[in-house]
Amino acid sequence: MSALRDRFQKEADESMQEYTSSLHFDRRLYRQDIAASIAHARMLARQRIISGEEAESIGQGLTSIREEIESGQFEFDTSLEDIHMNVEGRLYERIGDVAGKLHTARSRNDQVATAMRLYAKEAISETVTRLKDLQAALLDLAEANRAVILPGYTHLQRAQPVLLAHHLLAYFEMLQRDVERFGDCLERVDVLPLGSGALAGLPYQVDRDFVAKELGFSQISRNSMDAVSDRDFVIEYIAAGSMAMMHVSRLAEEIILWSSAEFGFIEIDDAYATTSSIMPQKKNPDVAELARGKTGSVYGDLMSILTTMKSLPLAYNRDLQDDKQSFFRTVDTVHSTLEIFTGMMRTIKVNSERTGQAAGESYTLATDVADYLVGKGMPFREAHGVVARLVRYAVEQERSLQDITLSEYRQFSSLFDEDLQSINVESSVAARDVPGGTAPRRVDEALREAREVINE
Ligand code: ARG
Repeated sequence: MSALRDRFQKEADESMQEYTSSLHFDRRLYRQDIAASIAHARMLARQRIISGEEAESIGQGLTSIREEIESGQFEFDTSLEDIHMNVEGRLYERIGDVAGKLHTARSRNDQVATAMRLYAKEAISETVTRLKDLQAALLDLAEANRAVILPGYTHLQRAQPVLLAHHLLAYFEMLQRDVERFGDCLERVDVLPLGSGALAGLPYQVDRDFVAKELGFSQISRNSMDAVSDRDFVIEYIAAGSMAMMHVSRLAEEIILWSSAEFGFIEIDDAYATTSSIMPQKKNPDVAELARGKTGSVYGDLMSILTTMKSLPLAYNRDLQDDKQSFFRTVDTVHSTLEIFTGMMRTIKVNSERTGQAAGESYTLATDVADYLVGKGMPFREAHGVVARLVRYAVEQERSLQDITLSEYRQFSSLFDEDLQSINVESSVAARDVPGGTAPRRVDEALREAREVINE
C-alpha cells in the first residue's frame, strides 16, 4: 500500500484512481515541476532546513529524472495521481530516503500552482511570438500588394473602395491588441505562489524571494489562501486566447468568402487547400474553416473554467485539477491556429484585376459623387438625395454611374461639371487622406509604423 494511504484501511479503488488521476494531461508540466523543486531544495539548504549535500543530491536526482523523461525512458506510474507524484516517486528510487526531504515546507497545492504559472509564462511568450509572426505575414502580403484596391463592405454590401493593405492592417491592429492583452495577462501570471503551503502558510523560515528570483518570478503572492486557489491567470489567458481566435476567425471568414468563385479575390495556395472525395474540381479552404470552428472550442474552454471556478470555497479544491485540460487545449489550439494561418497568409495570391473591377462596380463611388457636390457648395444631406435619385435612375437603366452623360447628370443638379470625370476608384481612395484613412499616403505611413511595432 502506498505510504500516503497509511491513514486508510483499504487500497484505492482502481476506478477511483483512474477518475481522479491527472497524469495523462499534467505530464507536460514535468519541466516546470522539476525546475520549481530544484529551486525549492536550494532554498531549503540556504535556510538550513535541509543540508547542502541533501539539496545537492535532490537537485542531481531531479536533473537526471528530467533527462529520463526527455529521452523517453521514464516509466510513468499511472497509480500515482499526477506528474508531481511521479517525479517524487522516481526520486526515491534514484536517491533513496533523502528524497522525502524535498516536500518539506511545501504542499502539492502551492507546487501545482507554481508549475502552472511557470508554464503559463512560457506559453504567453510563445503566443506573443506567434501573434507577431502572423502580423508580419499580413504586413508582407499588404506590402506585396500595396496598390491593390478592393471594395470595402458594410452589411456585406459593397460600400466604398479601399486599399487591400488598409484592410489587412485592420487585422494587424486586432492582433496588436491581442499582443498587448497577453502582455497584460503576464503581469498577473508572474507571481510566485510557492511558500503558501497547503493554504495557511508554513511553519518554516522559508525565503520566498530567493525562490522567486531563482525561478524568474517578479513578485511573490501576498495571501496564501488566494495563492493556492487562484486560477484567474488561466481564465485571463483563455479569455485573451478567445479574443485572438475571434480575430483569426473573422479573417478566416473573409478568406473563405474571398476565395469563392462569387468573389474570386484571392487564391489559397494548393499546399493549404483540400479537395473533395467526390467532386474532383473542388479546392476547399479547410484551414480557414477549421480555425473558425475551433474558435468555438476555445470559447467552450473559457465557459468551462469560469464555471469550474464560480462556486469554489477557499482554498484548494480538487475541481482545480481540471483547469489544465481547458488551459492546455486552448494553448495548443491558439498556437497551431496562429502558425498555420501565418503559413497560409504567406502563400495567398491576390487577383488584383478582379478586386479592382469589383471595387468600381455597384455604385461604390456614389459617396464620392455626393462629396463632389459638397465641394461645389451643396449641403451634404441635399447632395445625398441628389445622388440617391441618380443611382435609382442608373439602376433602372442598368447603367453604371460612369456610363451616365454629363447632360444627364445636370438634370439632377446644375452643379455637375466636366471635372466629374476625375472621380474614379483611385481618386476615391486617395481622397480619404485623414489619419487612419485608406489614402495610399496614409497607408504607407501605417505600414511603416506597423513594421516598427513588430520589430520592437
Ligand atoms: N493533481 C492535483 C492537481 O493537479 C494535485 C493537487 C492535489 N492536492 C490535493 N489536495 N489533493 O490539482
